[in-house]
Amino acid sequence: MGPMAQPSEPARARPFLKWAGGKGQLLPELTKRVPASFGAYHEPFVGGGALFFALFGLGSLSTACLSDINPSLIDAYIAVRNHVDEVIVALRQHRHDERHYYAVRALKPELLPLPERGARTIYLNKTCYNGLHRENRAGQFNVPFGRYKNPTICDEENLRACSRALQRAEVSRRHFSSVLDVARPGDLVYFDPPYHPLSATANFTSYDRSGFGEGDQAQLRDVYAELTRRGVKAMLSNSDTPFIRSLYSDYEISQVHAPRIVNSRASGRGKVPEVIVRNYPAGEWPQGVLSG
Ligand SMILES: C[S@@+](CC[C@H](N)C(=O)[O-])C[C@H]1O[C@@H](n2cnc3c(N)ncnc32)[C@H](O)[C@@H]1O
Repeated sequence: MGPMAQPSEPARARPFLKWAGGKGQLLPELTKRVPASFGAYHEPFVGGGALFFALFGLGSLSTACLSDINPSLIDAYIAVRNHVDEVIVALRQHRHDERHYYAVRALKPELLPLPERGARTIYLNKTCYNGLHRENRAGQFNVPFGRYKNPTICDEENLRACSRALQRAEVSRRHFSSVLDVARPGDLVYFDPPYHPLSATANFTSYDRSGFGEGDQAQLRDVYAELTRRGVKAMLSNSDTPFIRSLYSDYEISQVHAPRIVNSRASGRGKVPEVIVRNYPAGEWPQGVLSG
């Protein structure tokens, strides 16, 4: 247990969604590799946004551009940023009950007003099986009901903290390559793409309808190289595989270990080596200042 927060101290924002590949476990390794200074912060695979919220809490951000290809995720961010009171009211209408869950899952999100759409995504995320976002080919969320005892559906304090953190963030639904249109020299980009599978049989790359294959990983490396050429600082995390190491062999690669769940079978759990790639010198961050 850490020290108790003073009543007057606003809560630190934590991700308001559980996201596959969420970076909570790797945060100390990531924050200590963040450069001492940078302009705007960009996260083009934002997912749950673990590093964004952590850096915001450390007071390390001026402005941020967050994006992802997943429309439900981006709508939830915009709803929490712009309409947190309505999102909280809508979340309070939801309960952890199987029939209610399937009725909410069947709603067409595009027909709901934005705050209710965001609340639906948060509710399904907190109560679905394994807390993972998965869509079928038609783009419908299709995860079954999860058997949690008492999931927290509406964490009002954290939602308000997230809303405050997001006030200074531009949030949009975009392909990762569009970071080339917005990142300026001296900015920092953190890429956390869907993992390259550890083995040919591991099949956990379908984060969205299109999946993310080796062609996408190679395109991402080209974007990374172009940012480097333009003087944009870039950090990237991925699985430690020969393919990823070969793509980024021109850059500084550190191996790190974090517990992660790669799939729902017990054999997929454990400490898996990952890499953090940087295009700026290892000594550039103030040791110990950000890693606490
Ligand atoms: C590993 S997750 C990011 C996890 C995040 N860092 C966190 O802490 O929760 C990868 C994200 O990439 C997104 N994604 C997949 N393909 C994409 C693409 N072509 N462009 C942008 N985002 C994409 C997925 O929707 C998913 O949210």
